[in-house]
Amino acid sequence: MTEIISQGAIQEAAVFIKDRCTVAPEIGLILGSGLGILADLIENEVSIPYQEIPHFPVSTVEGHEGELLIGTIRGRRVVMMKGRFHMYEGYGPETTAFPVRVMKELGVASLLVTNAAGGVNIGFSAGDLMLLTDHLNLTGRNPLIGPNDAALGVRFPDMSEPYSRRLLQAARETAAEQDFTFREGVYAGLLGPCYETPAEVRMLRTLGADAVGMSTVSETIVARHAGIEVLGISCITNMAAGILDQPLSHGEVMETAERVRERFLGLVLALIPKM
Ligand code: 6GU
Repeated sequence: MTEIISQGAIQEAAVFIKDRCTVAPEIGLILGSGLGILADLIENEVSIPYQEIPHFPVSTVEGHEGELLIGTIRGRRVVMMKGRFHMYEGYGPETTAFPVRVMKELGVASLLVTNAAGGVNIGFSAGDLMLLTDHLNLTGRNPLIGPNDAALGVRFPDMSEPYSRRLLQAARETAAEQDFTFREGVYAGLLGPCYETPAEVRMLRTLGADAVGMSTVSETIVARHAGIEVLGISCITNMAAGILDQPLSHGEVMETAERVRERFLGLVLALIPKM
């Protein structure tokens, strides 16, 4: 079901948040499995549980917590979602992306989205970090369906630069400073919650996907609609089905995310001042 997100709901949520904090965030952070630890590095933070924010959905998945944190990281004012919403939880795409609308209303101009993803490109390995150069929205859904509110963005948004070239360049430079090289590629966003079959993974590769996951595309679409620049990074936590002769598990996803956490964190921290 497509729920119409009203400008009123966005504003009520934003006003509630503004009343609780002194800084207006300029950078939004939506961090996937394993990077919630970045929350510990926010200074002067105000934390607001999702359930207290008017119209905010509440997260249901183990290992994903639900609070919004506002504060500073390396001198930049950030708003961070600790825990995000997925369509496989039963939310519509407009609901999963509602926090992005609220971020826009708070003053956010650039957004970092990270996720755990399966490697589709056979040159990848578990533990790789991939910059999203583009995505395939294969959810069959779109968060912008319904009447368009011209105050939020145009009816037919351009998607020729879903992930900001400027931020991609900043990410490459940041990695080089740390003697690291990102993988780069196309992220296929599917509904989940089951992982793909080997045939589906072959299909995705034919379609041009390098990685596959269950998040990010609706957030990016809403961000672009709102004129927010997006940087997307996938942690390749495992190879997708049919590539290695082993079953996939959420345990492996979490283990790999944990293993690369320090490196990921170091990159994200160095990137934030450049966003
Ligand atoms: Cl293999 N598929 C999907 N859809 N999401 C994932 C994944 C695979 N690995 C981590 N997240």
